[in-house]
Amino acid sequence: MLTDLTSVAARARAAGRGLGAFNVVHLEHAETFVAAAERVRQPVVLQVSQNAVRYHGPLAPIGAGVLEVAHAAQVPVVVHLDHAEDTDLVREAVALGFTSVMYDGARRAFADNVATTAEVVAHAHAHGVSVEAEIGEVGGKTGPHDPSARTDPDEAADFMALTGVDLLAVAVGSSHAMTHRGARLDTDLIRAIGRAVDVPLVLHGSSGVADDEMRRAIEAGMTKINVSTHLNRLFTTRAREALDADPDVVDTRRWFRPGNAAIGDEVARLLTLYAG
Ligand code: G3H
Ligand code: ZN
Repeated sequence: MLTDLTSVAARARAAGRGLGAFNVVHLEHAETFVAAAERVRQPVVLQVSQNAVRYHGPLAPIGAGVLEVAHAAQVPVVVHLDHAEDTDLVREAVALGFTSVMYDGARRAFADNVATTAEVVAHAHAHGVSVEAEIGEVGGKTGPHDPSARTDPDEAADFMALTGVDLLAVAVGSSHAMTHRGARLDTDLIRAIGRAVDVPLVLHGSSGVADDEMRRAIEAGMTKINVSTHLNRLFTTRAREALDADPDVVDTRRWFRPGNAAIGDEVARLLTLYAG
């Protein structure tokens, strides 16, 4: 069933569990992630990034499809707009029925980030939609990442007081689009931010985080765990193997299916790992 993010994340945070959030580019992702979540009986966040929307063109076709998958699910499913820098797109997602949005002003100056985030919060909350925002940029999306980028707990507390966001994405050592799982996370900093703000924390760039490191981060207080690159890499590897095994294959389902199976199994495994 379609669910809001605030209550699902609050329950996970209170229980010390991680909540898996996986990026949807194609509708098959949504179907596969929900089937995996149903298999292990865990809630899941389906997130469509602004980049993925731009790949499709308009939001509505992919967004409406993902919402339909969520409505039909046997477990709680949040439909979330990820990394939106365009506030018109945020409004569109709210109007379409997304239950959560991320406004990403991390690359802007603190005061600008605060002002725009607060506007997004006012609009989204008026429609019952949760808002995630970011403070202290997790890089690697479009260019090189500064591995020393960190969220300051005092600045995070100020940001919360000024914006009233429901979840906070923080920089604690991860980076987007890592294809090896070698990120070291600052668990002391996770604890310090967790003491400074009273909302669930979000880890971006989780593909670069190994299982044992992730468990430590969740135990330190990390709640929403965003994963994309790791699943794309798995899908493409498995699809390439299927294509190589049958050079005459024409039907796209013949190589999509093994790719989907691989990421479905991995999402089921990750959801279980995050739940502890
Ligand atoms: O917002 C999406 C995530 O931060 C995904 O990052 O591709 O490095 O796993 P990733
Ligand atoms: Zn991210």
